[in-house]
Amino acid sequence: MSYVHIPVLLHESIEALGIKPGGTYVDLTLGRGGHSRAILEKLGGSGKLFCFDQDDQAVKEGGQNLQGLGNFEIVHSNFAHFAEELKARGVSQVDGILADLGVSSPQFDDPERGFSYRVDARLDMRMDRSASLTAEEVVNTYPLEKLAKVIADYGEDRDAYQIAKMIVRHREQAPIRTTFELVECIKAAKSPKALRQKGHPAKQTFQAIRIEVNREKQSLEEMLEAFPEMLAPGGRIAIITFMSLDDRIVKRKFASLTTVEGSRDDIPMLPSEVGDAPFEKLTRKPILPSAAELENNRRAASAKLRAIRKKT
Ligand SMILES: C[S@@+](CC[C@H](N)C(=O)[O-])C[C@H]1O[C@@H](n2cnc3c(N)ncnc32)[C@H](O)[C@@H]1O
Repeated sequence: MSYVHIPVLLHESIEALGIKPGGTYVDLTLGRGGHSRAILEKLGGSGKLFCFDQDDQAVKEGGQNLQGLGNFEIVHSNFAHFAEELKARGVSQVDGILADLGVSSPQFDDPERGFSYRVDARLDMRMDRSASLTAEEVVNTYPLEKLAKVIADYGEDRDAYQIAKMIVRHREQAPIRTTFELVECIKAAKSPKALRQKGHPAKQTFQAIRIEVNREKQSLEEMLEAFPEMLAPGGRIAIITFMSLDDRIVKRKFASLTTVEGSRDDIPMLPSEVGDAPFEKLTRKPILPSAAELENNRRAASAKLRAIRKKT
């Protein structure tokens, strides 16, 4: 049986897309197809959905989950290249784009993938298993300063330098091959006070290494650069993030597209003042999961949805 992934902010994101029956839509993060299924149900037989994922397992199982639901095409690719991939298929503009960023529950929970600090596994963390860079390589080959910068920038861990130093000291004795070996290094680098703080002590470092391995920040920025011209007039984009790092990038990009130079995003303006901006906001503040959703799915806890619409 295919692994279940409970789609996050499902109703809210589909609502934000305002799906037009017969339109052309893109789900940039197929996963197990939870959001794609809902899009296909709204789209009707004459529309088309393109589903992207860089993970071969998601492509296989997501595709199986969508069988018989309508007109869709799965593209096994990093979404950084979605515009080229669509153009290669003769599609120059679409009516809506959805991205539900990050790692899926099946990736996180599969011990073979090495994403989780709670399961002992080989250090891998690649979403795209044909990519060459693994977590093991990052941990064992990056120079101290580079490793510390990755942990500081992408994990926002105050102990980044200490952790990087401990990793380097450890690997000088023997390579760090598994998630639990890495967890031990991280714990050894932290003060007793830091270890008593809320949350798992390895959470931020694991997040940082995963972002580095998958070039997550670069892929997001490349996708955000490409989408404005790929949306037809009236077209919408909705993005769900789970980390403040991603949300900040999305928020900044959306603000730059919905405000004119010299105007302030945080000061309410008359419609005429934002008249020249190419997009308009559909969500003034990010939409967060309801209490009912949080009760049902604790992984939705940090989710935020933002959406904008291209003016006609
Ligand atoms: C949170 S899951 C999406 C879950 C999906 N919405 C569902 O309901 O089943 C994110 C998925 O996006 C994929 N992904 C993340 N970053 C990607 C990228 N840059 N390019 C392509 N796929 C990516 C991951 O492999 C993962 O399967």
